[in-house]
Amino acid sequence: MTFLRCIAAFSFSALVVTSAYANPDLANGKTIDKQKCYACHAKKSGFGNGDMIYTRTDGKVKSMADLKKMVSLCNTELRLDLFPEDEADVIAFLNQQFYKFKP
Ligand code: HEC
Repeated sequence: MTFLRCIAAFSFSALVVTSAYANPDLANGKTIDKQKCYACHAKKSGFGNGDMIYTRTDGKVKSMADLKKMVSLCNTELRLDLFPEDEADVIAFLNQQFYKFKP
C-alpha cells in the first residue's frame, strides 16, 4: 500500500515538473525579472530603465535560441541561482512581453 502511494506521489510530481515547462508561469517570470534582473539592466544599459535592454535596437538577441543563451548566461555568470523552471518562466515572459519570437 505504501509502495503504491509512493508511485502515485512520484508520478504526480513528474506531472507538475512537465507542466511547468509546457505552461510557463508568466506572472512568475515577470516577478523574477523585476526582482533580479531589472535594476542591473537599468544601470548597465545607461537608460535608467530595465526594460529597455530587451528592446534596444542593437540588442544581442535575434532568436529564441539567443534569448535562452542570454538568460542562462546572466543567470549562471551572475550566480542568480534561478531554478530551471524559473529560468523558463523568465524566458517565456521576456519573449511574450518584448521579443515575440515564434517558439
Ligand atoms: C548584475 C547585472 C545583471 C543582472 C543581475 C542581470 N543581467 Fe542580463 N544583462 C546584463 C548586461 C550587462 C547585459 C548586456 C550584455 C551585453 O550587451 O553584452 C545583459 C543582457 C541581457 C539580455 C540581452 C538583451 C538584448 O536583447 O540584447 C537578456 C535577455 C538578459 N540580460 C536577461 C537577464 C535576465 C532574465 C536576468 C535575471 C534573471 C538578468 N539578465 C540579470 C547584466 C545583468
